[in-house]
Amino acid sequence: MNKEKRIVLTGFMGVGKSSVARHVAHMIRTRSVDLDHVIEENEKMSIAQIVDSKGESAFREIETTNLGRILNDTDTRVLSLGGGAWTMPENREMLKSSGYTSVWLEATFEHCWLNITFSRKDRPLAREKQKAITLFEERQKVYCLADWHFIIRPGQTSYEVAKQIMEEIFG
Ligand code: S3P
Repeated sequence: MNKEKRIVLTGFMGVGKSSVARHVAHMIRTRSVDLDHVIEENEKMSIAQIVDSKGESAFREIETTNLGRILNDTDTRVLSLGGGAWTMPENREMLKSSGYTSVWLEATFEHCWLNITFSRKDRPLAREKQKAITLFEERQKVYCLADWHFIIRPGQTSYEVAKQIMEEIFG
């Protein structure tokens, strides 16, 4: 098993990136890092507060700065992104040059939407279903730039997805 590999999980809001990352990290005896969580800690504001008060493009700059900070920490091996971080070419390049293997977790829109509506996380870009559908469709073409692609089957748990990632990527 190649435990030295670094992986980054991307995919649409509500697909389960953070939970899958936690399971993968546990399996290789490390901790996962969640970009949104790091942003909230460093900025002392929630993601929703940042987007609502400063706007989405300011949020994207903050996101890139914080991603850079994480990548400077060479101990991080399992990273989960917010669903929009992968859409920024600069972020993709930084991740690649830092040696990360990227993984797109894909599920149907309805699967993501169900999780979005049941979650306590306030997602400013997914407060309206129609807007979220449009974003979901637009982003397929950038998510598919990831090195790996896992489709989450109905009923599959985040633990099962993590196990599959372990078997196929970490070998
Ligand atoms: C966003 C996804 C969110 C968070 C922010 C913007 C997006 O993270 O970064 O609300 O643009 O897709 P999750 O994918 O963890 O919900």
